[in-house]
Amino acid sequence: MAMKTLDDLFVHTLRDIYYAEKQILKVLPKMAKKAGSDALRDGFEKHQAETEGQIERLEQVFEMRDQKPRGVTCDAINGIIEEAKEIMSEADDPAVLDAGMIAAAQAVEHYEITRYGTLVSWAKQIGMDDAAKLLQQTLDEEKKTDQLLTDLAEKALNKQAA
Ligand SMILES: [Fe+2]
Repeated sequence: MAMKTLDDLFVHTLRDIYYAEKQILKVLPKMAKKAGSDALRDGFEKHQAETEGQIERLEQVFEMRDQKPRGVTCDAINGIIEEAKEIMSEADDPAVLDAGMIAAAQAVEHYEITRYGTLVSWAKQIGMDDAAKLLQQTLDEEKKTDQLLTDLAEKALNKQAA
């Protein structure tokens, strides 16, 4: 796809994050299954449900543009997920495994936060205010999830220190 305009770039990035969300949706149940603490498992499960809603929002944005939802391979998220899988297969100690998975999940969230932040501002610039609102909702969810992960990581560290 030729990327000549901001509009083209917007669609490309929409496809990038659509692909990313779908990959994340696949790995979240595996992370939930491996989680050592109930709080972390709940967090992953809750975010899985949230991710389904985020995918639906992206589909709505594609629809606003009369475009079929389509993903484009995102090497960045593939790399982050690959690292998460490595941690899941190599960490034996439950506390270490949880710490590693939290860190991996935060890398995912940070990637998403940068993408959605960009999409919100581009949507406004190309006059897609309704799309900007939808994407902002997802951005807020990703930020909340990131904060939740930070809280879980701190709690786990305090428990270990005690
Ligand atoms: Fe997401």
